[in-house]
Amino acid sequence: MNSIPYEAETGMVEREGMAAGAAQPGEAEAGRDASPKAEDRRTVGDYTHPSAVMECREVNVHYGDKHAIHDVSLDVGANEVIAMIGPSGCGKSTFLRCLNRMNDTIDGCRVSGSIRLDGQDIYDRKTDVVPLRARVGMVFQKPNPFPKSIYENVAYGPRIHGLARSKAELDEVVQTSLEKAGLWAEVKDRLDQPGTGLSGGQQQRLCIARAIAVSPEVILMDEPCSALDPIATARIEELIDELRGNYSIAIVTHSMQQAARVSQRTAYFHLGDLIEVGETADIFTNPRHRLTEDYITGRFG
Ligand SMILES: Nc1ncnc2c1ncn2[C@@H]1O[C@H](COP(=O)(O)OP(=O)(O)OP(=O)(O)O)[C@@H](O)[C@H]1O
Ligand SMILES: [Mg+2]
Repeated sequence: MNSIPYEAETGMVEREGMAAGAAQPGEAEAGRDASPKAEDRRTVGDYTHPSAVMECREVNVHYGDKHAIHDVSLDVGANEVIAMIGPSGCGKSTFLRCLNRMNDTIDGCRVSGSIRLDGQDIYDRKTDVVPLRARVGMVFQKPNPFPKSIYENVAYGPRIHGLARSKAELDEVVQTSLEKAGLWAEVKDRLDQPGTGLSGGQQQRLCIARAIAVSPEVILMDEPCSALDPIATARIEELIDELRGNYSIAIVTHSMQQAARVSQRTAYFHLGDLIEVGETADIFTNPRHRLTEDYITGRFG
């Protein structure tokens, strides 16, 4: 997809401190003080949520010299679906991956700023990423079931996290998770068959069941429907709405219709900046920032 270079659009140049050389830890902060976010790139709208589960403040992400996320502050609220939209390469996946420290696995990736889950800094040295990734689960663009049975795909997490004390309890967790993911009726008679033998839409629901099985607080979804047909997509969208009763969901999507259907709040990213955040209905009917308006009206992206 095309995105118009920011400079070309706004006549602005990159901020001091982010363009040249390998940034050292702390340098982004110095750069921020010396050169506060230019007005046009400051987030429009209220990025806080009255019942926040996750609070991100001034998050910056670098891949080596590349400054991919600039001073992004955003809450994820309890029982909300928040959609993250924006042109390809604007940093949606990068930001989403910060929320469960998935970027830790990428060489040369550095995250600074503060991200709290229930008030606890997830980047604190004392935070163990294994339980963190159970509390903040992730569903990817391409369904990625383990090469194991349907049952084992769901049972694996509860087993390694010690969430079931007996086989009967584990069976119960597997069944409940598959029910919540809307897959139980379709698979209950073939739990011992490979997860990879399911259809794409079923595999994605299996991955959702796998995420749910460890009782997460937040589920991150990165374009979860982009490999699915419209019927399977509709099924996942219904599911997202049901899941909101128990979880918070942050979903990256390229489909504005999908964002409008499933989310209560929408965050619009552009070249690493969070440009605007607000109630989904307001973002789509009455965007306040010109870049948001250009994107949702299809002028670029
Ligand atoms: N592993 C990586 N190493 C280096 N640069 C990366 C890496 N991953 C992403 N980037 C860069 O960071 C920026 C943001 O990428 P990201 O994948 O987060 O965008 P995105 O909004 O998710 O795009 P898309 O809609 O295409 O998935 C891009 O410029 C990209 O090239
Ligand atoms: Mg992406």
